[in-house]
Amino acid sequence: MGQSVSSYRSARRSLPAKTAGDIIDSSSDLVHPPSPLSGLPVLKKAKGHYWYPSEGTRILDACGGAGVACLGHGRRDITKAVTAQMHSFTYASYAHFNTSPVQELSDWLIKSTGGKMQKVYVMCSGSEAMEAALKLAVEYFLWQNQPDRTNFIVREESYHGTTLGSLSASGHVVRRAPFAPLLIPARFHRIPACNPYRQRLVSDSEFESDAAFVARKTAELEAEFARLGPETVAAVVLEPVVGAALGCVPAVKGYLAAVKAVCERHGALLILDEVMCGMGRTGFLHAWQGEAREGDGSGPDDVVPDLQAIAKGFAGGYQPASALLVGGKVAGVMEREGKVFTHGHTYQNHPVVAAAALAVQRVVEKEGLLKNVRVQGTLLERLLKQRLGTHPNVGDIRGKGLFWGIEFVKDKLTKEPFDPALGIAERVHKTAVREFRVLVYHGQGCAGGGRGDHIMVMPAYDISSKLVAEIVERVASAVEEVFRHL
Ligand SMILES: Cc1ncc(COP(=O)(O)O)c(C=O)c1O
Repeated sequence: MGQSVSSYRSARRSLPAKTAGDIIDSSSDLVHPPSPLSGLPVLKKAKGHYWYPSEGTRILDACGGAGVACLGHGRRDITKAVTAQMHSFTYASYAHFNTSPVQELSDWLIKSTGGKMQKVYVMCSGSEAMEAALKLAVEYFLWQNQPDRTNFIVREESYHGTTLGSLSASGHVVRRAPFAPLLIPARFHRIPACNPYRQRLVSDSEFESDAAFVARKTAELEAEFARLGPETVAAVVLEPVVGAALGCVPAVKGYLAAVKAVCERHGALLILDEVMCGMGRTGFLHAWQGEAREGDGSGPDDVVPDLQAIAKGFAGGYQPASALLVGGKVAGVMEREGKVFTHGHTYQNHPVVAAAALAVQRVVEKEGLLKNVRVQGTLLERLLKQRLGTHPNVGDIRGKGLFWGIEFVKDKLTKEPFDPALGIAERVHKTAVREFRVLVYHGQGCAGGGRGDHIMVMPAYDISSKLVAEIVERVASAVEEVFRHL
């Protein structure tokens, strides 16, 4: 069923050998992160919305690396804030001191959720934040004498991190395959993702409505609770907009609220992984925040998680930053029972990391960039659909804000994916870089079982309309070029 790693490797071997013209040969699905020996170019400079891998070569950044560089590269206002903190002090153990950047960042984050999230642990990677979320969920139930709540309901075509716990939660076939014997299948139980392009029923050319689709998805979740025994489930884990594993697939309207209601009915927690889709990527600071809202706080159609992981756009790559946000229910028990989470990293609550995240978020706020994400996101959607919507090998274009995925298919009608051995997404990525000087993020697995190719377009939040149009033109040209020669 699933694509084996060896078939993936042989697929890569079957690609044209590297030439002197190779500028960027990233293999995000095979080696994550790529090994220093993998022959990548040595980057000379990155500035604004461009990468400069060598003298005279300029590549338009349409993905911020792995969806990280949300303010582009080399902003002085941020590097100044980071160095100022380093001049003040570079490190303090979270066990010995509170520090003003961490305090200020935590207060700001809590306020950004309208006080719905009440505690913050600052960390360095998305995997760490997700690992911590899984552990805190279990410990929360231990504090309440419910030691049997150790099961997690997770989804197919998902990615939550590289560590053994977060990888166990992930449904990413290729990234799991080599470590299968170490993962924890007895605790992580998979249900299908929420993917309308591949799962919505069609009969007599009528589409299943959102409400009917959500009802069917809810029934799948209910059935899994019933199978496991609801009293054994600690949490449901999901990405509100699925990133690398599916290629920017937002939850169908009503799905998040329905999942939350099921969790509440069974006393389980809801963990949202906003590592990739959060911190402004969707046009809202938190992906769980609905459209109806005033100011920064919460709004009437929000679906507030119990635990939330953020990273990537949190500090925009100016430092390796992530955080675990803890909602009122869990924080309330901690406070009431006087409990402390049995968990800590040496670099937890790092002051320089916090200073970077704070500086990035201040820029996003001061320059009104969430609005720009929504405005430019609407343009990006329109232009991508205009330019590529009718292409015979483009099956779906989906996303939200500045987070857009393009799924490639062999047959537009049947949605049959390409043979993974062809490495279609990687070919598009390489052609885009080599011939059209634009960097996109590519992946495989969006059609399930390791099959299906997609690329992701995730420009910086301060992108202009002119650059959005240029990105679309270059990406579309690369797509056309690849299929012209297939
Ligand atoms: C949704 C999601 N969760 C978790 C992770 C893991 O984050 P990191 O690579 O920073 O450990 C990623 C990374 O791509 C991600 O996209």
